[in-house]
Amino acid sequence: MPQPPHASCFRPDVLAGKVALVTGGGSGIGAAIAARLAEHGARVAICGRTQAKLDAMVGEIEAAGGEALGHTADVRRFEQVEQVMQAIEARWGRLDILVNNAAGNFLCPAVGLSPNGFGTVIDIDLKGTFNTSKAAFPLLSRAGGVVINISATLHYAGTPLQTHAASAKAGIDALTRSLAMEWGPAGIRINGIAPGPIDGTEGITRLLAPELRERAERLIPLRRFGSTAEVADAALFLASPASAYVTGAVLVVDGGQWLAGSMA
Ligand code: HXC
Repeated sequence: MPQPPHASCFRPDVLAGKVALVTGGGSGIGAAIAARLAEHGARVAICGRTQAKLDAMVGEIEAAGGEALGHTADVRRFEQVEQVMQAIEARWGRLDILVNNAAGNFLCPAVGLSPNGFGTVIDIDLKGTFNTSKAAFPLLSRAGGVVINISATLHYAGTPLQTHAASAKAGIDALTRSLAMEWGPAGIRINGIAPGPIDGTEGITRLLAPELRERAERLIPLRRFGSTAEVADAALFLASPASAYVTGAVLVVDGGQWLAGSMA
């Protein structure tokens, strides 16, 4: 089914003067969010483990007239995300928007999953979200900032072969709500986005066998997979003053897929 066009519903300068950081911003959903925020006036930093992906994305944003900064970091390493914050402060002196998007995943039954395999996904997704949020707090509290945590719908029901990722994503949603309580008084809003099946992502490439796609689409109320631009629009809403009284919420962007049960 064709996807709707993506002209923006927002003013192009809605994020003028703001600075954003998107973890895992070199590809997939993170890259789409970085581009969308830049198109709306934000200066955007992206971090990830692969320099070449970051360079390509920075080039893309700059070619479109935006301002961008790429910095390698593994979100599992607190000292590395602290270095990203230092680079952002040195370049722009502020941070208004943090998007915790970096994630790792693979399909594996629990009995075949090593403790290190389980822990690796928890460390990238959940601990990475904590690390980056904590490292960003000093800058975000100065700016009255916004945090957007990307989770998933894996934990809304039971998802086989995904004990590691479902547990990590459940933890991220818990972190979203708990940080909303702790950091609300500091003027920081923390919200989540739970994407469903989104085309153009590692998630779909890694987790869905192509022969299962048609069946998966039939089970989605909107009868199609989503686009990275549609997730980016949700992030733009949560980053903008249009959501000024929204905190601790998780916005599901899945075409209604989780209502209909697992794709497995
Ligand atoms: C079983 C596996 C495995 C697999 C790795 N491991 N892949 N176990 N099946 N396919 C185990 C390893 O054996 C090892 O345990 C441990 O995990 C760590 O593996 P490493 O390769 O050393 O880790 P690392 O190099 O840090 O890579 C992390 C990774 C990798 C998660 C394993 O896939 C990665 O970097 N992914 C990043 C990109 C990504 O996955 N994006 C998709 C996000 S999708 P042992 O015991 O052997 O040491 C997403 C969407 C969710 O988040 C929602 C979908 C709807």
